[in-house]
Amino acid sequence: MASFSALFLSLFVHMLLCFASHRAEAKRSYPLPISSLVSKQLFDAIFLHKDDNACPAKGFYTYDSFMQATTCFPQFGNTGSLTTRKREIAAFLAQISHETTGGWATAPDGPYAWGLCFKEEVSPQSDYCDSTNKKWPCFPGKSYKGRGPIQLSWNYNYGPAGKTLGFDGLRNPETVSNNSLIAFKTALWFWMTVQKPKPSCHNVMVGKYVPTKDDIAANRTAGFGLVTNIINGGLECGIANDGRVNDRIGYFQRYAKLFNVDTGPNLDCENQKSF
Ligand SMILES: *[C@@H]1O[C@H](CO)[C@@H](O)[C@H](O)[C@H]1NC(C)=O
Ligand SMILES: *[C@@H]1O[C@H](CO)[C@@H](O)[C@H](O)[C@H]1NC(C)=O
Repeated sequence: MASFSALFLSLFVHMLLCFASHRAEAKRSYPLPISSLVSKQLFDAIFLHKDDNACPAKGFYTYDSFMQATTCFPQFGNTGSLTTRKREIAAFLAQISHETTGGWATAPDGPYAWGLCFKEEVSPQSDYCDSTNKKWPCFPGKSYKGRGPIQLSWNYNYGPAGKTLGFDGLRNPETVSNNSLIAFKTALWFWMTVQKPKPSCHNVMVGKYVPTKDDIAANRTAGFGLVTNIINGGLECGIANDGRVNDRIGYFQRYAKLFNVDTGPNLDCENQKSF
């Protein structure tokens, strides 16, 4: 009995630490560690240059903070067959790599060995404040530029991400680039959360995506290309042979090989309309 209540207490504390106010999350099952699928050794082989002097994020994105962040999202890398689980993790790591890439065509070890090189957007074109959004109003003087592994942007993402994860995303958006655990949590939050009319990246990668009539008309078929569409389709999809889309695919192909899984079909989004 004692160990049962200890487990219950630790689960409760876990949920409190992970989610400030997101009750739906509490229904999720107890996490199985995904460290068996992503060892420290594999993580290091994937991110060969993230701690180079040339990378502004040097020392920031640690294996331990990634692992710790995944415990807040027990379904991540933990849904479906072993192949599906590995493919989802490879897809996630590929997308965050493109978002933070320091690679170039002739870079040492190739362009796809340079993920997690940046922690914040270098020359933002704006403060990414959508002032028409009244639910998540911008705080005066704050910039909602890209930060962290997924380069979280816009007040309407910082607000709900912070609310779910327990920090004030609107007042203190800088938290995402100065706290590595929260940084990884924001990336996983974006990956796992349905933001209608978009499905979640997670559901797409684990086969739980059910296209609507609009999705079918827009060619939004499940695959890595649809995940790209969710993340940045407005700028990148519906364009033939887009370089940014190809960079995401290049990362995914390299990582899928390292995880020893196939990538699945529909890698690009050139025939898809954005959301
Ligand atoms: C991190 O960001 C928060 C929120 O803006 C700020 O209060 C804190 O001082 C920052 N910490 C460091 C170490 O920069
Ligand atoms: C859907 O894809 C086909 C090619 O496979 C293309 O001809 C068509 O224009 C696409 N539809 C939309 C809405 O982009």
